[in-house]
This record gives sequence, C-alpha cells and structure tokens, in this order.
Amino acid sequence: MFKNIALIPGDGIGPEIVREAKKVLDKISELFGHTFIYEEADMGGVAIDKYGDPLPESELNKCLKADSVLLGAVGGPKWNGVPGNMRPEKGLLRIREAMKVYSNNRPAKIWQQLADASPLKKEIVEKGIDFIIVRELIGGIYFGEHKTESNGSESIATDVLKYSESEIRRIGKIGFETALKRNKKLCSVEKSNVLDSSRLWKKVIHELAKEYPEVELTDMLVDNCAMQIVKDPSQFDVIVTENMFGDILSDEASMITGSIGMIPSSSLGETTKGLYEPIHGSAPDIAGMDIANPIGTILSAAMMLKYSFNMEKEAAAIENAVSKVLDMGYRTADIMPPSGNENYKKVSCSKMGSLITENLAN
Ligand code: IPM
Ligand code: MG
Repeated sequence: MFKNIALIPGDGIGPEIVREAKKVLDKISELFGHTFIYEEADMGGVAIDKYGDPLPESELNKCLKADSVLLGAVGGPKWNGVPGNMRPEKGLLRIREAMKVYSNNRPAKIWQQLADASPLKKEIVEKGIDFIIVRELIGGIYFGEHKTESNGSESIATDVLKYSESEIRRIGKIGFETALKRNKKLCSVEKSNVLDSSRLWKKVIHELAKEYPEVELTDMLVDNCAMQIVKDPSQFDVIVTENMFGDILSDEASMITGSIGMIPSSSLGETTKGLYEPIHGSAPDIAGMDIANPIGTILSAAMMLKYSFNMEKEAAAIENAVSKVLDMGYRTADIMPPSGNENYKKVSCSKMGSLITENLAN
C-alpha cells in the first residue's frame, strides 16, 4: 500500500522519539512491501520561533493532505511567556479541531515485563490493568471562551465548559462501540452532582444505552474515578468522559502501568484519517539527551497502521517487537528498575528504537 504520513516532531524530546518511530515504520514498509511517504510539518514552539504562529496554514495543510499524522510532543518553558492563544499547545488544539478528531483513545494496559515499575501494590497489579479511556477531544472547557478581564481592582479569568447533546452523543457512541469490542463494560465519568454539562452528559449517555443493551453501563463521578483507578483498576474496561476529565484521568491511568512513556493514543473523527501521539509531553528537561522512551510514539505508529491503514499484521509486528525487546531486558531510563539488577540493560532512546526495528518480523 502507498500512504502519505505527516510527521510533526514538535518540541523537546519530540524530534528524538519521532525519529525512532520513523525507523520502525521504514522497516515495516520494507518487510511488508508498503511505501510510506513522509512530510514533516512544524507545530508548537518550533513553529512559533520560525513563523510566529504555533500552527501556520502551510503546516496545517500538510497534515490535512496526508493519510494520517504522527506527532511527538509540543511545548516547553521557553514559550511560557507567550499569550495564551499563541502558546505551543494551541497548535495541538488547532490541529485536533481542524482534523475534527473528536475521539481520543488512550489505552492503560500493563506490560507484564513492567509490572515492577507500577507504583501500585503487587496485589492490585496482579488483578490486571487493561482498560481504555475514550476522551472527548474537541469540545468542553478546552474549546469554550477563554478570557481575562479586570473589574478595576483585580483580574477575573473565565473559561467556559460547554457541551451540546450531539457532541456528547457522538463520543458516547464511540464509548459503547469500544466496549462492545471488548468486555462490554462502559463507565461514564462526569461531575453531575455539580455541573450542568455533566447532567446533560449523563442524560444523553443513558438515552444511548438503550441502543446497546449488551453493554453494562455504570456512572461514576470523576473524583471517585480518580480514586478507583488507584484502588482497583481491574474494575474498568472502557471509560468514556469529557475532554478535561479525560486529560487528567489518562495521566493517572498511564502512571499505574509503570510509565507514561509507554502509552500511545489515537484520535479519530468520522474518517480513517487520524492523529497519533504518545500521551506524554515534551519533557524539556531531558530534550536532546537521547534518554527518552520512544515506545509510546512507536506504539502510536502501530495504532496508526491498525486504525487508519487497516494494517493489523503490521501493527501486531510492532507490538510483538516491543514485547520481545522488553523480554530481553532492555529498558530506557524511565522504566529501569532501581540499580543492582543485572537482568536489565539500560539503553538510550535511539538504541531502543534500533532494537525494536531489528526485532520486527513478518
Ligand atoms: C494531552 C496533553 C494536551 C492536552 C496539552 C499538551 C494541550 O496534556 O494530550 O493530554 O491537554 O490535551
Ligand atoms: Mg494530558
């Protein structure tokens, strides 16, 4: 198959991890007889420095033209002073909105090889951690009006959290459909004891539930959910939630699996064109040191092959290679157990990418 892939290296460790994912994709194309054509686009701080805009039209168009987009990470302290609507993160929000990718899928699954890296007690980890957070991605407080005004004596800041029934319904559907393909358990997470947007959320999700009688639906308040994720994560199969709750809970969920560096994500709308990115940030403190974990990005590339290009075997080949390399004891710094264990070998970001590439098989 012939596919155009837009690559957005972005800021911080972004360029390093995307480079490793490209290495893996190149080897996949060789092994399985595909042609991947890449086009690089600037987004985030790097684009602010070059064009004075976190996502200029020219760069966005490269992404809209491609069959799918693979992104590293954006942001860093260098751009902390720029106004809110020009921050690097605004580029990310704009591309999500322009691609209309309303459904963000973030798996929280423990790799057996990394069970020791989980901060949770062994008894809890042993019950199993394997769930998906379906996060609404282009609505809610991220996209409501933002403003800071003065009443004469002090500043007052406002961020609007707004959801329409149709926005809730389309993401709710993805939640139910995702559950149908798994263990048929859906947990809808909101704050309906306080927020109107959450009360509407709950109502729409319950209306939808009538169309999915096979799925067991539960409701959970977001504060309780944050607690349940550390208390007994084995209870979850699929969680569906609004944009900001999904942002927060997915960081928590990733941590209990050992490292945020391992978790990929897919963002999709009504078409197969998707945006794929690891869920971690740009880690400016370790940028350029070749010590980041590229696995979240490499697994994001695998998700792209599976969900956007229908290349199931190719995606499985990447997942198997990652598993094999972990079995062999190779670890980047973030997943390296405390010193003194000769079964593990600490490797750099580029070495990890090369090891995974070498272990790909068709
Ligand atoms: C994420 C990130 C982004 C978000 C930031 C960088 C805007 O935290 O993808 O989880 O909040 O969506
Ligand atoms: Mg986040």
